Amino acid sequence: MYVCICNGLTEKRVLAAARETGERRSVGALYKKMGCKPQCGMCLTHAKTIIKQDDYAAKIRDKAEDCVEAAMGFGHGAPVSL
Ligand code: FES
Repeated sequence: MYVCICNGLTEKRVLAAARETGERRSVGALYKKMGCKPQCGMCLTHAKTIIKQDDYAAKIRDKAEDCVEAAMGFGHGAPVSL
């Protein structure tokens, strides 16, 4: 699915760029990473949503890993809260 018609950016490409830009990701950094700039701006909300969803998914994965480590008894003793 296309996120940005002006630059021909798909969700897959935006997500890949979002994952490459590091911890503190902004839409500006994202477009820069992809070598383009927003034109009309209609895609910005969707691009921000992709970043937020990916950040949230990463947090869930981290929590799941903590739970597995705690369940297997080789965690560092830190409490796990979901
Ligand atoms: S749709 Fe992305 S800048 Fe126009």
